[in-house]
Amino acid sequence: MNKLILVNLKMYQSTKEEVDNYLNNLKESPVIFFPSVIYLEKFINHGFVCGCQNISINDPGAYTSEISAKSIKDMGAKYVLLGHSEIRQNLSETDESINLKIKKALDNNLKPILCIGENYEEYTQMMTKIIIKRQIEKALKDITEEVIISYEPVWAIGTGKTPTNNEIEDILNYIKSLFNYDVKVFYGGSVSKDNINELNKIKNVDGFLIGKAGLDTSSLEKIIEVVSK
Ligand code: 13P
Repeated sequence: MNKLILVNLKMYQSTKEEVDNYLNNLKESPVIFFPSVIYLEKFINHGFVCGCQNISINDPGAYTSEISAKSIKDMGAKYVLLGHSEIRQNLSETDESINLKIKKALDNNLKPILCIGENYEEYTQMMTKIIIKRQIEKALKDITEEVIISYEPVWAIGTGKTPTNNEIEDILNYIKSLFNYDVKVFYGGSVSKDNINELNKIKNVDGFLIGKAGLDTSSLEKIIEVVSK
């Protein structure tokens, strides 16, 4: 499989004009986009493969403000990001709710991408493997279907800092060893046009999950150029 590039646009874009300009500036590309849910349909109508940044644990019903997996699937999305550290931190997401969401995604034929990663204190205490093993075991409890993993150290997100290639390679090998199938594992956290040449040398990485750098279409094109070589 060629390496994949995923762009998590978080809540960066906030006007229709901004989104239209962004879409008009993007060349046709093999990137998978995770836009704000209100712009999801625009991206899909533009011909891009897309995913959603979160879903409800509930089926359609009396759940004010929530968004069902069924509606996301019906809109044409293929993937859903689950367990992103910003949701764990800001919206009190737990491993247990992530587990329910993964089940809901699979029931609705959405491919779940489970985000895992340690914080800085855990990193300095060399606890990364313990933390991510626990996150994986809890999030995937009673799940036998295949999922995708994105390793995103919390301390690397939006900071300009990244682990070394050797550290990432070691963790990705460890993650892969926890599965009895050929699990795809991405790296995310401060991937940019300036470090993609280096990060792309990591041997066992199946792709990159990009945040801020994906907002700038010329940076994104540079990243695509390097990764698809
Ligand atoms: P940054 O690339 O902005 O560090 O964000 C990474 C991320 O959170 C992708 O989900």
